[in-house]
Amino acid sequence: MKLLTVLGARPQFIKAAAVSRVIKDNPSIQEVIVHTGQHFDKNMSDVFFQQMNIPNPAYNLDIHSLPHGAMTGRMIEGIEKILGKENPDVILVYGDTNSTLAGALAAQKLGVKIAHVEAGLRSFNLKMPEEINRILTDRISDYLFCPTQKAIDNLHRESFESFNAQMVLSGDVMLDAALFYASQADQKSSPQIKNELKEQPFILCTCHRQENTDDKQRLSAIVKALNTLSKTYKVVLPLHPRTKKKMQAFGLDFSFTPIDPVGYFDMVWLLKNCAFVITDSGGLQKEAFYFKKYGITLRDQTEWVELIDHGFSELAGADYEKILSCVEGLSQKQSDFSIPLYGNGKASDVIIETLTKQ
Ligand code: UD1
Ligand code: UDP
Repeated sequence: MKLLTVLGARPQFIKAAAVSRVIKDNPSIQEVIVHTGQHFDKNMSDVFFQQMNIPNPAYNLDIHSLPHGAMTGRMIEGIEKILGKENPDVILVYGDTNSTLAGALAAQKLGVKIAHVEAGLRSFNLKMPEEINRILTDRISDYLFCPTQKAIDNLHRESFESFNAQMVLSGDVMLDAALFYASQADQKSSPQIKNELKEQPFILCTCHRQENTDDKQRLSAIVKALNTLSKTYKVVLPLHPRTKKKMQAFGLDFSFTPIDPVGYFDMVWLLKNCAFVITDSGGLQKEAFYFKKYGITLRDQTEWVELIDHGFSELAGADYEKILSCVEGLSQKQSDFSIPLYGNGKASDVIIETLTKQ
């Protein structure tokens, strides 16, 4: 079977690393990787291919830094050409980025089967570009690999059983990655980070979602809250290039020094050793839970609702007071992190077994 994997943004590299490991053990699959180029800085892309042994992309379309329509359109055009040349049996797309939707649309028009990993997730906020990408990708996919029962329920609510698609409860491929790389992080993470942080408690924070970065009021409130927290805690913030650009445009400043985006080994070390996590990242919300850390989510709603329902994470939006009160409330919490909300770390095996059985 020939599998054409389309990826382009940081979270997709981590998901693909988990699935590609299983593919490598299966001689009946030939994987061809297409990198759209959406993320292109060394520490937003190359570092993951190097550290996580993801096979080198056969193609890099080098499409990035464009408005949504132009980016997605040019990606569709590029992927269409590659599909014509490679003639794969299935296209594999991950998550909810513009690269995901472009891969799915190009494949569907050419009659190539689509497998969507992280299907069925919904924030019910159509102002998020990710929500549009998820809904449309799901609707035209042939295989819907759902990380949670809630995701399956969402698809049933949208009558997906009446479409010709296979829904599979696979669990979360990011758990597969977290489990596999956790044991390597102590050794392979950078000495600079470890030496500077090993003695002191710190908050791990990331922020990059469009709804926060492109709204001056929201970004200002988040920056103000982190600046206040930095008076009491060390704040470690690997700064996404999008946020860096917007901070400059809005004339905002941190009163602490953010760091550049880090590779996955450093991220896992930071997750293992931090006090708690403040983030608007989809992936990091779950990873906080995988490493038994409470999360404060800088969003008004999340597709990872189990974390909220079980008290592992709280929604603080971009509200200064709420962010600070969530931090204060953390000392009262006592949760059992052993509950398997996202499967058993074998999601990639389920996905590959399903695809090869057809
Ligand atoms: C994208 C995804 C988002 C995901 C995020 C993961 C969409 C619609 N959004 O958002 O769902 O959570 O990736 O990180 O697909 N930039 C750089 N260097 C890079 C990457 C980006 O400078 O390596 C800059 C771009 O030039 C652009 C900005 O960051 O100005 C935003 O990049 P873009 O890929 O459009 O969206 P993300 O915010 O990264
Ligand atoms: N991540 C990383 N280095 C960083 C920031 C994030 O390795 O500096 C990892 C993080 O651990 C998670 C993934 O990137 O596995 C999440 O990507 P991101 O937050 O960019 O996207 P989202 O999940 O919100 O789509």
